[in-house]
Amino acid sequence: MSLHLPHRPRRNRKSAAIRDLVRETELTPGHLIYPLFIQEGRKNDNIASMPGCKRWCLDSLVKEAGEAHALGIPAVVLFPKIADKLKSSSAEECYNPEGLVPRAIQALKQSFPSLTVITDVALDPYNSDGHDGLVAADGRIVNDDTVDVLCRQALCHAEAGADIVAPSDMMDGRVAALRETLDDEDFQDVSIMSYTAKYASAYYGPFRGALDSAPKAGDKKTYQMDPANALEALREAALDEAEGADILMVKPAGPYLDIICLLRAHTVLPIAAYQVSGEYLMIKSASAAGWVDEAKVVQESLIGIRRAGADMILTYFAKDVAKRLG
Ligand code: PBG
Repeated sequence: MSLHLPHRPRRNRKSAAIRDLVRETELTPGHLIYPLFIQEGRKNDNIASMPGCKRWCLDSLVKEAGEAHALGIPAVVLFPKIADKLKSSSAEECYNPEGLVPRAIQALKQSFPSLTVITDVALDPYNSDGHDGLVAADGRIVNDDTVDVLCRQALCHAEAGADIVAPSDMMDGRVAALRETLDDEDFQDVSIMSYTAKYASAYYGPFRGALDSAPKAGDKKTYQMDPANALEALREAALDEAEGADILMVKPAGPYLDIICLLRAHTVLPIAAYQVSGEYLMIKSASAAGWVDEAKVVQESLIGIRRAGADMILTYFAKDVAKRLG
């Protein structure tokens, strides 16, 4: 029995060797960025909302980042847990040159000059209100005064040796302001990875648990994007490009593959995608229950993000994946 088909797509799947030859998308440790939570003190703490992740003290941070780098991961991004007594409504701890983040940057760059250190630029870990921007008496999130504080924060990170600053705050005009501040202070080589299309997402819940950084009142919908919108991501991308961003980011990743794909079609800039804490937790929980194979689901989720058009992926699975690929 033969159907006499001229086209049999299965021929290109008939062996592992041929599947290797025709594969369109690659995932290597070189595509991964490893987000790391940090804290003061001499011990590490497990993060209840993110099983398998820890908040690292600085000594352990250096060890963990070094292991990841040795596995081929080119970059880490840092998220600090700030003690309540250092939080304030003006968030001035975010530009303290003796603060946790600047010390972490210095320790990492000293031990591993070839490791790219990325920092988060936003006020939420430092702000007693838990918002990414300053909060006015009437509850509004103030744009322009926030940008001024973000510039100080980014400059503080650059002075400590950060390679890339990553504004995750979604204030208007912050990329241009950061570029100008960095250039004025002779940090022309510090890059800006902009959270271009950052959605107001319920998938950030476990992260806010890790840093105790949830907003005290209200939500983030007046600055983060509405999950229903795609064209608006193109507007944000055009602005970030014009303002001098080096890399555009989409966040979250998995539920927003169409946005990654859309941006890919409209920009020649590199695109990053952030597989966020909720995406991580869903895979972890389902595999801990024995319902899915963690390694396979992680691989498929990351290949999907790469296939959609992301050049690089921020993922809490980075080190596990690099181990498996290596
Ligand atoms: C805050 C920030 C958030 C994340 C990264 N930076 C949380 C938020 O916007 O509320 C979330 C990352 C994750 O969920 O993994 N500037």
